Amino acid sequence: TSVEDWKNLVTMVSTEKKLVQHELHLINSDNTAVTATGTVTGKFNRKGKLVDLQFSVADISHRRRLENELSNSLKMEAVGRLAGGVAHDFNNIIAVILGYSEILMENLGNTPFKNDIVEIRRAAEKAADIAKQLLYFSRKQVERPSIINLMDSIQEMEKMLRRLIGENIQLFMEFNTKEAFVAVDKGQIEQVLMNLVLNARDAMPRGGIIRLLIREDKPETGQPQVILEVTDSGTGMSEEIKEHIFDPFFSTKENGKGTGLGLATVDTIISGAGGKINVQSAPGKGSVFSLSFPKATAIPDHMGKAAAPVSKPNMTERILVVEDDKNIRLLIAKILGYHGYEVSQAEDGNAAMKAVNATEKEFDLIILDMIMPGMTGKETSELLRKRYPGLPILFISGYTDDTLIKNGCKNDKLTDFITKPFDSDTLQKKVHEIIERKNGGAS
Ligand SMILES: Nc1ncnc2c1ncn2[C@@H]1O[C@H](COP(=O)(O)OP(=O)(O)OP(=O)(O)O)[C@@H](O)[C@H]1O
Ligand SMILES: [Mg+2]
Repeated sequence: TSVEDWKNLVTMVSTEKKLVQHELHLINSDNTAVTATGTVTGKFNRKGKLVDLQFSVADISHRRRLENELSNSLKMEAVGRLAGGVAHDFNNIIAVILGYSEILMENLGNTPFKNDIVEIRRAAEKAADIAKQLLYFSRKQVERPSIINLMDSIQEMEKMLRRLIGENIQLFMEFNTKEAFVAVDKGQIEQVLMNLVLNARDAMPRGGIIRLLIREDKPETGQPQVILEVTDSGTGMSEEIKEHIFDPFFSTKENGKGTGLGLATVDTIISGAGGKINVQSAPGKGSVFSLSFPKATAIPDHMGKAAAPVSKPNMTERILVVEDDKNIRLLIAKILGYHGYEVSQAEDGNAAMKAVNATEKEFDLIILDMIMPGMTGKETSELLRKRYPGLPILFISGYTDDTLIKNGCKNDKLTDFITKPFDSDTLQKKVHEIIERKNGGAS
């Protein structure tokens, strides 16, 4: 066809009498494909007859490849944003389902329908997991990196992991280092581990071995690395498959079994944490996923933090819930009211300011949705803080740009976050914690 291309070029030059540029698809001598532009310049005599042709070819493969990469990553960004938006709305709905089923469960006593509610709750929790996965993937989840010991995380998850993989797969854990401190978001690392272990399980339908190994790598130059390896004795992967495993929505699993977001999520999380992933695998030879993180040197900030004591609130604390979604607002008010707090509601930042200015008895806590029409949660909080510097604020958010958090007043003792969907227990504990902190001044 390239000969055809050239003939067409020549015809076009002689009839249209001008410079012609064409995109050509050529094959190199080493059999690789090349995208090129061919330029043909014609020389004409005084009668307008074509007497000479000059050809030139420029290889634009590299440029084309970059263009494709760019358009792909833009596409991915759009998909991510869409996924994040959908997950955000879903989270709101799931929070409502979770909350009301919990209220029902606590108040129903012993009825034959209790199990039905348990099932509703279980389904809602599953939905929440999927939404969370989408949020991680689209990077819209609030990240709260802290310094954790990877060994602790793995040990904490062991029981759940064993349950997930079933009985015909053995799980071995090996720690070849004394400590494995890394700066990551704990929830995210749990998700990474779960995705890798689930993939390993799926690669061993007839059973096998999963090995979790933590070791330290001290390179001659550069920072020491903490390495987490997940090894399985499963099917392994061909080179072709391996090339695509981190692509979002790439899955070899039958319909309905895999969404193909598992490893894309892992990739997003690990590179977000400054880590690297290395995959070794061959058909029939099993797979090794090794994650390396820069070793953190600081001492973990909340090592072995004791659980907050759960004492009853003294019934007099006043809370203002500012949230534009009516269902969620009512739900929060209901849960907190149920736990003995006095709760007022506002549907946006302006209404919140009015409520705060009008009240005779000061509020003990403001619960603020991050994203609202009109004033955002952050703007509202700034206005509130100006007037009442000691007022605790609890932000709730389904998804939030990291930057919003980073620019917010994250580090002060009076500010806290909770992410949707939360269950009533988490909400109540968090509120309790903040108010204790305010009253007792304990940090
Ligand atoms: N340990 C493994 N052994 C063999 N193949 C694997 C392994 N891990 C991943 N793969 C391959 O990579 C593909 C993509 O994995 P990924 O976790 O992203 O998606 P998934 O498991 O198919 O679906 P999801 O995790 O969203 O439920 C899998 O479908 C599988 O073909
Ligand atoms: Mg998976």
